[in-house]
Amino acid sequence: MYGVLLMLALIVSTESQVVHRDSEFVGCSDTEEEFLFGFDGEELFHSDFIRKEAVATAPDFADPLSFPGFYELGVANIEVCKQNLALYIKANKSPDEQLAPPDASVYSKDDVVLGVQNTLICLVTGLFPPAVNVSWTKNNQIVTEDVSLSQYRRKNDGTFNIFSSLKFTPAEGDIYSCTVYHKALESRFITKTWDVDVAVPGVGPAVFCGVGLSLGLLGVAAGTFFLIKGNNCN
Ligand SMILES: *[C@@H]1O[C@H](CO)[C@@H](O)[C@H](O)[C@H]1NC(C)=O
Repeated sequence: MYGVLLMLALIVSTESQVVHRDSEFVGCSDTEEEFLFGFDGEELFHSDFIRKEAVATAPDFADPLSFPGFYELGVANIEVCKQNLALYIKANKSPDEQLAPPDASVYSKDDVVLGVQNTLICLVTGLFPPAVNVSWTKNNQIVTEDVSLSQYRRKNDGTFNIFSSLKFTPAEGDIYSCTVYHKALESRFITKTWDVDVAVPGVGPAVFCGVGLSLGLLGVAAGTFFLIKGNNCN
């Protein structure tokens, strides 16, 4: 059971179309708590309930904003969320929990250059309920350093996305993996691997373009042929 209170705090809109969407998200369950402000699908700031502080996550150029009392506001909202959740569960006679298994993909944040620090992202999508664990390995050894987990991001269909980041320095031949543990997964977990693969300009695109262009020209020639032939018949 996951209680969700989603408020579109402010919708700046013209007559027919939403221009910007400001959002406030409060979520709670037996194991998870989240309080997050967002803008146009991006995160502005959230409460870290373990470190007991507000965390501004907008990039520096955006002049990150937060306000005094943000963390305390989160604590109060979580209390309300938990009370409401208990009430809803009782009122609805403990309905079955919906389950949606996540999918995962791994990619690097920046183009891979050997020896240049980069970040691997493990994007986990479409899960419900929000309890999830994500772990990393490098060459089959578990990695816990330089790992961070994002907040849950609610999707329009009610499921959630989350991503884990791992700072790393690409070296030839290294193999990384991301394993996602979620209760809705049939085998309890899924693993995606990623290996350091520095792009060598391949012949693929050239062949593709060459074949495509040839076929196109062939089409034009055939068209012209039939056009002329058709005219001759008249
Ligand atoms: C995540 O890890 C914690 C601690 O090991 C465990 O108690 C919990 O059941 C795990 N959750 C999932 C969804 O695997």
